[in-house]
Formats: sequence, structure tokens, C-alpha cells
Amino acid sequence: MRHLIDPMDLSVEEINHLLDLADDIILHKEKYQEVCKHKKLATLFFEPSTRTRLSFEAAMMELGGNVLGFSSANSSSASKGESVSDTVRVVSGYADIIAMRHPKEGAPYAAARKLSVPIINAGDGGHNHPTQTLTDLMTIRREKGKLDNLTIGMCGDLKFGRTVHSLIKAMSRYENINFIMISPEELRLPDYIIKDVFEKKNIKYKEVRTMEEVMPELDILYMTRVQKERFFNEADYIRLKDSFILDERKLLDAKEDLCIMHPLPRVNEISTKVDDDPRACYFKQALYGKYVRMALIMTLLGVSADENR
Ligand code: CP
Repeated sequence: MRHLIDPMDLSVEEINHLLDLADDIILHKEKYQEVCKHKKLATLFFEPSTRTRLSFEAAMMELGGNVLGFSSANSSSASKGESVSDTVRVVSGYADIIAMRHPKEGAPYAAARKLSVPIINAGDGGHNHPTQTLTDLMTIRREKGKLDNLTIGMCGDLKFGRTVHSLIKAMSRYENINFIMISPEELRLPDYIIKDVFEKKNIKYKEVRTMEEVMPELDILYMTRVQKERFFNEADYIRLKDSFILDERKLLDAKEDLCIMHPLPRVNEISTKVDDDPRACYFKQALYGKYVRMALIMTLLGVSADENR
């Protein structure tokens, strides 16, 4: 049984195949509209979500399948004390594939054990978010035409941001990626990622405290929310927060073909005035997430458009 728990569960070849399939789905939507007829996707979301849950559900519907599930722990029997393993085991009798988000790191690993249907990690605590990573890789490949020879700046909460951790792991497998980590000291990338990924693989990286000092170098700027609740005191937050708000002025020194990404939700770390800049890719990114999840559902269920002809 194949699951997707960690972005490294997929080889580079498998990722390329998924991205090719997602591109083909965009071009030939009609070819795929019944490939999952009579199949069911369960979305088990123990934590809030807009994009991930709804794009999974839209993906299954556009493949001709059905969806069931819950959108909060409170509306499930988790609120009565049921374990994740029991919940998932029961749901595996109702659905052909499961997408699960849980606040506890590692919950999807535990749930996957002995499971008879594929399970997809839709985000586990501050750990991993592999389908956001597929979304990000698809966005980079479509917008930049490649996944290698790029300088990528990651900005904001690099300490707790699971999308950042997952994307670094995935991008570290491509040639000549130069990572620039832009964050306050309080939210810098955890040492284990620096050691296990950058240092172990001899990958170029640097850490800086403002985006202005590196803006002209960047091919991709990956913004994340600076989370006020992570700071030890409000004075530090107030002192630092404006360094991490992207606005038109900060983009004056940026490359003309910069790709501005954000996993969303945005709060105020990108000015809405940037939304009309042709370099703003974050809404397209959210849309690509639906197509790459369609490709992933098909692949894990072992269905193809050719069988349906
Ligand atoms: N990017 C992302 O995971 O968004 P949601 O929390 O809305 O699913």
C-alpha cells in the first residue's frame, strides 16, 4: 500500500511524473473527468484548512469521484476520545483513499500502519506538508520552467513553518539551488535542517535578517506569515514585523522575472498592492494545488485516463 507521508517518500522521477500528469490534466480536463468514478476520498481534518481540504475535495470531484469527511476534530468522535488510528481504520472501510491533517507531528505515520487504503499527509503540526510541496514544485516548474539553478529566498517563520521545511527537503535534491533564509533570529531555520540538509549535502545557503539586502539576487521569494504568537515579547514583534512585509517599494530592486510565492493564508505579510504585480504567483499557486492533488489521487489509486477510454 502506497502512502504519502513525507515529501521524501517520492523520488525525483515520481515527482516529475506527477507534475507532468498535472500539466496534462490542465490541458485535457475532459480526459480525466470520470477516472475516479465510484471512488471515494475521505478528508479527515483535525485542524483548520481552506486550500488543502477544499482543493482535495474539488480534485476528487473533478475526477468524477465522491468525497466525505470532517473539517474539525470537534465534529468527529475525536472529541469523545477516539484515537487517530481507530478513526482512520474505521474510515478505511468507507473510502478508497484518505487525506488527513492533524496538529500532532507524526500522526499520519501512526495512522498509516496496517492501513488498507492509501493515506496522504495533508499537514502534521510543524513537521511536513508534502502536498503543499508538490504544489510549490509545480508552481516553480511552471513559472520558471525548471527546478534547478535557482536562488530561492524563504522569508518569515522558518522555525515552525512546515511548508518551508518540506520544500527545503524537496528542493535540496535538485542541482545548484542556492537557499537564502530571511527571518528574525527568533524564527530562524532549525539547526537540524541546516545540519541534515544544507551541511550534509554541501548545499549553498545563507541566513539574513532583511529581505532588502538580498532582493536583487532572488529568482523565487517564498513568503510565510510571521506569527506574532511565536514571539516572547510584543516589543520584539513590533520592532521586526515590518522587515517581513513585502510591498511595492521592496520590490523595486527585484528581478523582473521574480516569482513571488506564499502557501497562504496571508495575513499582512504581503501588501494587497503586490497582488496586481505580474510577479505575484500565490493565487496561481493555490490553483495548481488542485491539479497536482488530482494527479496524486490518480497515482495512489493506480488509475489512468487511458484505462477509461
Ligand atoms: N497552504 C495551506 O495549507 O493552506 P490551508 O491551511 O488553508 O489548507
